[in-house]
Amino acid sequence: MEPVGIDAVEVWTGKLKLDLPETFAPQKGEDPDKYRKGIGLVGSSFPDLYEDIVTMGANAAKRLMDRKGLTPDDIGRIDVATESAFDNSKPVSTYIAGCLEQYFDGEFRHANKGERKFACVAGTQSIDDAYNWIRAGRNRGRAALVIATDTALYARGDPGEATQGAGAVAMLIDEDPDLVEISNEQGYGSMDETDFLKPNQQFPSVDGKRSMQVYLSRMREAVEDFESVAWDMHPDDFAYVPFHTPFPGMVRKAALLGYRHMSRDTEIEDALADEIGRQPREDDYASREAYEEAIREYMDALKETEQYQAWYDRTIEPTLNISRQVGNWYTGSVHIARIAALQYAAEEDQELAGEKLLVGSYGSGAQAEIHAETVQPNWEQEIAQLNVDAQLQARYDLSYSEYEHVHDSHNHEKGAVDIDDFTEPSDEFVFTGWGRMNERQYEYIE
Ligand code: CAA
Repeated sequence: MEPVGIDAVEVWTGKLKLDLPETFAPQKGEDPDKYRKGIGLVGSSFPDLYEDIVTMGANAAKRLMDRKGLTPDDIGRIDVATESAFDNSKPVSTYIAGCLEQYFDGEFRHANKGERKFACVAGTQSIDDAYNWIRAGRNRGRAALVIATDTALYARGDPGEATQGAGAVAMLIDEDPDLVEISNEQGYGSMDETDFLKPNQQFPSVDGKRSMQVYLSRMREAVEDFESVAWDMHPDDFAYVPFHTPFPGMVRKAALLGYRHMSRDTEIEDALADEIGRQPREDDYASREAYEEAIREYMDALKETEQYQAWYDRTIEPTLNISRQVGNWYTGSVHIARIAALQYAAEEDQELAGEKLLVGSYGSGAQAEIHAETVQPNWEQEIAQLNVDAQLQARYDLSYSEYEHVHDSHNHEKGAVDIDDFTEPSDEFVFTGWGRMNERQYEYIE
């Protein structure tokens, strides 16, 4: 069976930046270390006034198609994953296709276009849809374009304001991919949850602390489900473990949980037994509460061990290199974690071909998905094409009052604010205003 997976990726970051420890924390009367050390974010990306989910998605896709030498005829489906859509009927993929048709010769007239919604897990679900479409043999030799694009904005004053972000990831899903092959095996943890939602409102209603618990519970279930169809995982099975990263502090918790699970009944548990004891087993405790207390104590001790810290530094820390600087990109977040890891591996001259990644996606509401990926022989040439660092460096650094204006200008209820753009668009799609049916309009700027 031909491998199916991610052939190419491109990233487009919102062109503005808010420095969280230096600019945001002082205004909130908070310690900058809450951001540097606790939440783990030093910056958030924001869209400039002429940017939105369509421009960011179209600009990432244009870069990808340009450098892979693709035309619209090569693409059989365009799926956009977003939780920031502005239209309940017309999918964002049609707007993005319209932008791309302004630039490329040809049309996406015979491509299947759609929009996927399940909070942040929708990007991974769109990859699944593309994978299934190719495996079913319905693609007629064409590739799928999956675009995860979001403006992750919270109401001002909401605790989530600390974790905002904006950006897009475009991914080409194809047979015989250059970057990673996706495993046929998947695991799910899915429950009807009320932790984070946007019932016909732009900014989310969030129960922040509960959302973190739900993330961990669903992720644990997805890991168990994956193991039931794949294999009993060991921490050393994976070169990197990219997780959905609403903020790095969340991933620190998920990683510890994953390590405890994967090291149970292994030589790692045996080797740690003298130092921190064996992992608590529920049957040994009189009550669920006593067991949970023992687990908490074991996790606190495990976190401090050299074995765990070395594993974390090797497999998790590099996945956070981009997220730390851009905040939460919702649907794109787990996909920038994968890119960050591969970029780090390339910088370190690691030989990754044939190595495995374990990818943990999550969407509030709530569902986690786990699958494995195998790095392909051409991964290094592909990842070397990205210019993420240059994009991050070029962002305009907002003052706090500028940030407030930008937030207002993207607030659908407040609308346009009378301020100038902060950056100059060049070689990209921009938002130009509304048409006669209240549709958004876009133009390509040379
Ligand atoms: N030095 C070092 N660390 C500090 C510190 C300091 N001075 N001050 C605080 N911290 C630490 C805290 O101890 C805490 O770490 P632990 O959780 O490990 O204890 C961390 O910094 C955050 O501090 P708080 O808990 O006090 O932060 P908060 O109350 O302002 O809210 C939040 C944090 C709940 C995550 C909030 O930002 C939020 O609601 N975010 C949106 C929801 C979210 O992202 N949920 C994640 C799971 S849901 C999901 O993943 C889907 C999604 O994308 C939204």
